[in-house]
Amino acid sequence: MSNGDKKGKFVTIEGCEGVGKSTQLRLLKEYCERQGINALFTREPGGCGVSEKIRSVILDPENSEMTAVTELLLYCAARSQHTQTVIKPAIESGKVVICDRYCDSTAAYQGYARGIDLNVVDSLNKAAMCGVKIDCTVFMDVPPDKGFARKGGVDAGDRLERENMDFHRKVYEGFKEIERRESERFASFTAQGTKFETHELIVKELIARGIF
Ligand SMILES: Nc1ncnc2c1ncn2[C@@H]1O[C@H](COP(=O)(O)OP(=O)(O)O)[C@@H](O)[C@H]1O
Ligand SMILES: [Mg+2]
Repeated sequence: MSNGDKKGKFVTIEGCEGVGKSTQLRLLKEYCERQGINALFTREPGGCGVSEKIRSVILDPENSEMTAVTELLLYCAARSQHTQTVIKPAIESGKVVICDRYCDSTAAYQGYARGIDLNVVDSLNKAAMCGVKIDCTVFMDVPPDKGFARKGGVDAGDRLERENMDFHRKVYEGFKEIERRESERFASFTAQGTKFETHELIVKELIARGIF
């Protein structure tokens, strides 16, 4: 499956909490503005009215009784709306769409960490993607303890972040497993240097892949 001829590109940024996804997204946004690249920056869960409302339900710490499958369905509901109304039209109009988290987060968190059957997760992800293809996934390969240290601890207002370290290690292992399975789509960065050094490496990689 391809996103088509003159069509745009779709890049996702994935990884655990605090590993620099939003920082890199911001630096890429500045880069695209400087270079005059027609790009759209967005995030999940969220990215449009309906999906931002679903986001607040998913992340609300008061919803501690939410079951794993409910959580999965909400993520995929938010993704479906965001993809159909924002991501897909932008790709079709020739833009480079760069999204902070996408399907691999659902596979890592709800599949590998929560333990929902990966075939179920993959089917729902596929439905929610509305036929778009991810051209490249920038994976910030930083273990969760380092991520939380960087961000100065857990955000108590985020139900997923509040899960224990064992959960976040399973998420990380999940990402590493997806990386092995999807080695061509994945571009991985250990983010050992400064955020600017990592940014340079990401830009180089996206140019090499014909995305920029
Ligand atoms: N390469 C880096 N080295 C050190 N600290 C970083 C680096 N990149 C980002 N940070 C810092 O780590 C924290 C979390 O970054 P953030 O981009 O919010 O992560 P995420 O969006 O993945 O949760 C921020 O305080 C950010 O300034
Ligand atoms: Mg972030």
